[in-house]
Amino acid sequence: MAWSERQQAMLRGMGLKVWVPPPAAEPLLDTPPPPAAVAPPAQAIERPAPAAQVQAQVQAAPVSAPALAPVARPAAPAPVAVHVPRSDSPVGSMDWPALREAVAGCTACSLCESRTQTVFGVGHANAHWMIVGEAPGEQEDRLGEPFVGAAGQLLDQMLKAVGLTRQDGEAVQQVFIANTLKCRPPRNRNPLPEELARCSPFLSRQIELVQPKLILAMGRFAIQQLLGTDESVGKLRGRVHQHAGVPVIVTYHPAYLLRQLTEKAKTWEDLCLAMSVYRRQLASA
Ligand code: URA
Repeated sequence: MAWSERQQAMLRGMGLKVWVPPPAAEPLLDTPPPPAAVAPPAQAIERPAPAAQVQAQVQAAPVSAPALAPVARPAAPAPVAVHVPRSDSPVGSMDWPALREAVAGCTACSLCESRTQTVFGVGHANAHWMIVGEAPGEQEDRLGEPFVGAAGQLLDQMLKAVGLTRQDGEAVQQVFIANTLKCRPPRNRNPLPEELARCSPFLSRQIELVQPKLILAMGRFAIQQLLGTDESVGKLRGRVHQHAGVPVIVTYHPAYLLRQLTEKAKTWEDLCLAMSVYRRQLASA
């Protein structure tokens, strides 16, 4: 398929090289194959339509219409344990204002002593897509918003590539971004199991309130929290998981992608899978 100018710009924004096919008049057999570094890879070459367009397409088509893009990879049969949020937490019945207040005043673990402020999350209260990251870094701790540093800029580009945004918009386009931990661990160290456990009711409640159609879990700790497994991202990606009845697609953390540029193509595949699952969710609603 040919990439439009806009699509090429988006892929370039994600740092992905774009292979542009020669004009049809040129004999393809004489064309050298694209270099190995070209992305997205062959099996993910179908670019998903932007989320809003997907919704319009699905709404226009009868539910039984075979309009769905094939899932990039078949779901593996191996089930993954679903992490069930603690039901005894008072957080489980809070509305948005109460939840926001509870997060802001939380002293459940020692991270409250070193934080500048909590980072609650941003986005549409009923977003179709929820993005779950790990923990605030220095800039997030200073500004009170998730993913505002270099990793956040890459995340924004990834979202843009599939027609999503953190900026104001409709639920179909504006995502909700939350972290697994609401406070920055000192010097950005890894979250401790105790901290993750104490913070988990907040994320669980955010998910219950947003009721997303799809969760994109980015990085090891987000995945651990949502899926209750410590398997590697590499092993878990490419399949559809579940958290509290919501499909979860796992992918690499943007901060990791900034260090491992070659993995960006895999994240593109993950986004294609996510869009495909999202389509199915809309069609079955
Ligand atoms: N990494 C995350 O996982 N979340 C942030 O908010 C920033 C960096």
